Amino acid sequence: MMSKEGFTHLRDYIYEKTGIYFTENKTYLLESRLSNRLNELNLSTYEDYYLYLKFGGEQSKKELNNLFEVVTTNETSFFRNPPQLDAFKVIVQKNYLNGTPTVNPIKIWSAACSTGEEPYTLAIILLELMETTKKNIPFIIYATDISQKVLETAKRGVFGPYSIRNMDGNILKRYFSEDNGSFKLSENVKRYVRFEFMNLMDTEAYKKYRGMDFIFCRNVLIYFDEKAKKKVIDLMYESLKPGGFLTIGHAESLHNISRAFKPLMFPGSIAYQRGK
Ligand SMILES: C[S@@+](CC[C@H](N)C(=O)[O-])C[C@H]1O[C@@H](n2cnc3c(N)ncnc32)[C@H](O)[C@@H]1O
Repeated sequence: MMSKEGFTHLRDYIYEKTGIYFTENKTYLLESRLSNRLNELNLSTYEDYYLYLKFGGEQSKKELNNLFEVVTTNETSFFRNPPQLDAFKVIVQKNYLNGTPTVNPIKIWSAACSTGEEPYTLAIILLELMETTKKNIPFIIYATDISQKVLETAKRGVFGPYSIRNMDGNILKRYFSEDNGSFKLSENVKRYVRFEFMNLMDTEAYKKYRGMDFIFCRNVLIYFDEKAKKKVIDLMYESLKPGGFLTIGHAESLHNISRAFKPLMFPGSIAYQRGK
């Protein structure tokens, strides 16, 4: 059983490191997610685990990655929430294809990319757009996450049926090869995406992600409290170039979080634009 003290210490520690906030009614969830860590480290109480993380020196730095893995939720899939992706396509067409030809690559950041389905989807959309418009669209996608494990899977680029369940059959055929029930993504898509570790709570780390045309930060802020959400959104504002676009999760809102962005309405979705 997790003591009240153990819960409070671990909850505050996890929050400080990741922005993820476990409310008291999630005690059981946290307990079950961490129990394997205790077993593996031969620790008998959750308080011991907290002390190990806090004062364990080099060892605890390594343990931090295991902690990130167990406290995060990595649910994702290709072509998740189509209305947001349609809006992305419309913005690219209007702002980058119909205007003066793009010289610099469009810089896109998929922050909290999990196993890669989101950034790869964006790459496929742009490749399809190039095909239909017969125009070249130079672009680069940065894809980051706090979990090393999901980043490894993302880089491999091999997916199960669950990940591709919403994908159009023709797209699947064009960009994947099937092997024994697994779907291997083509190198021609993979080469556009650069995967890197990045913790959204690490203010310094944002310096690497500047001048973005688009940021996708979907389905991660729901796990943060208001203070952490505000911090991330303020930093992302700075990471966008003037006139750049932010997309957050379909069920998420910037209400009470930021007034800095201009909301743009699309059928079934909203994109947030930084002032020009
Ligand atoms: C539910 S997935 C969302 C994946 C994708 N954006 C989507 O909408 O399908 C949330 C991801 O956020 C990551 N995450 C959680 N806290 C984070 C943090 N502080 N910094 C970076 N990534 C974080 C998790 O590891 C997880 O892969």
